[in-house]
Amino acid sequence: MDIALTYNLKEKDESKPPDYFSEFDSQETIDAITSALRKKGHNVLPVEAGNPDIVSYFRKNRVDMVFNIAEGRAGKYRESQIPAILDYLKIPYTGSNTFALALALNKSATKKILKAEGIPTPRSQLFSRGSEKIDGTLKFPLIVKPNFEGSAKGILSSNVVRDTEELYSRVRDLMKIYNQAILAEEFINGKELTVGVLENGSTIILPILEIDFSDCSGSGEYFYSWKMKEFQGNKEMGLVPHFYCPARLDKNTDGLVKETALKTHRAVGCFDISRTDIRLNEEGVPYVLEINPLPGLNPKDSNFPIMAYAAGMQYEDLIETILLGAFKRRRG
Ligand SMILES: Nc1ncnc2c1ncn2[C@@H]1O[C@H](COP(=O)(O)OP(=O)(O)OP(=O)(O)O)[C@@H](O)[C@H]1O
Ligand SMILES: [Mg+2]
Repeated sequence: MDIALTYNLKEKDESKPPDYFSEFDSQETIDAITSALRKKGHNVLPVEAGNPDIVSYFRKNRVDMVFNIAEGRAGKYRESQIPAILDYLKIPYTGSNTFALALALNKSATKKILKAEGIPTPRSQLFSRGSEKIDGTLKFPLIVKPNFEGSAKGILSSNVVRDTEELYSRVRDLMKIYNQAILAEEFINGKELTVGVLENGSTIILPILEIDFSDCSGSGEYFYSWKMKEFQGNKEMGLVPHFYCPARLDKNTDGLVKETALKTHRAVGCFDISRTDIRLNEEGVPYVLEINPLPGLNPKDSNFPIMAYAAGMQYEDLIETILLGAFKRRRG
C-alpha cells in the first residue's frame, strides 16, 4: 500500500512560549511510525501537515490511505483540518473524522454529550468573558483549564483554585494567554487512569494505565500538569510518576472504567483509536475528564503505546491495527 503519514513536527523556537509545540510530534515518533509501516510492507511518504500546498501535494501524490497524526497548527478546529482536506479529495485516512476531532477538542461541548449519555464527568462551568457569576453549587477546589487545548497546555499546579477570588484571577490570566474560554471543573481527588480503545473490526480495550504521582510530591506537582507531561521522567526535577499497567483496580472497577471509556469513545463518535482520561473518585466513580482521538504515539514515552505493550502488542502491531481499522471501516 502507498501510505502518507501526516504530522506536525515539534520544533525548537525560543521565540515561542514554552508550551507552543507541546501538542506536536517529535521526529522520533514520526520515524517510529514510518519504520513500523515499512516493516509491515507499506510504502510511506511522511508529509508535514503545515505544508501550504498540501492540497496540490495530495492531488499529485495519490495514496491508498493517510495515516493521520496531525494536530493542526492553529484554530479551535485545527485537528479537523487535514481530515476535512482528505474528505474533500476523497482520500481515506486513519482515525476519527472532522466532527469527532472538533468535538473532542472542545472540552465543554464533549462534557455536554457525556452528561446526556449518563457518563460521569466532573461538574463544571465555562467562562467565556471571565466576569460571569459563579455557579454557587460548584464545590471547591476547582481546576481551571483552557477549553480548546490538549497536551495539558495551560494546566499548571496553580490552576487548582480554592476560592472565588483565586478562581477569577486564574481564569482571567489564562484567558489573556490563550485567548479562549476557560473551563472550571470540580477537582476529583483519586486515581489517575487512562484507557486506550482500538477498533479494527472488533473492539480492543487495552489494559488500563494508572499514573501514580505520589513520588513526585517534592516537585510541587501532583497531577498530570503541563510540567509533569513535558518533563516526565526527569529525576532532578522530581517528575518521576509511576506507571501501573494494568491499573491496581478490583475486577468490578476495572470493568466499569473500561465500559465508561468505550461509552465515551462511542458517544463522541471516535474511529479506530482513542484514549480516555479518567479520575476515579474515592467512592469508585470513574469521572471522564476528556477523550483524545489523536493520542500521542511516541514509542517510549506516550501512554498509548505503554498500554499496547501491556497487552502484548509490539509497536508495529499497534500501528498496523490502527491502519487495519481504517481499511475495514472503509470496506464496511
Ligand atoms: N477535574 C479534574 N480533577 C482532577 N484532576 C484533573 C481534572 N481535570 C484535569 N485534571 C488533571 O490535569 C490533567 C490534564 O487535564 P486534561 O486531560 O483535561 O487536559 P489535556 O490538556 O486535554 O490533556 P492531554 O495531555 O491528555 O491532551 C489530567 O490528566 C489530570 O491529572
Ligand atoms: Mg488529558
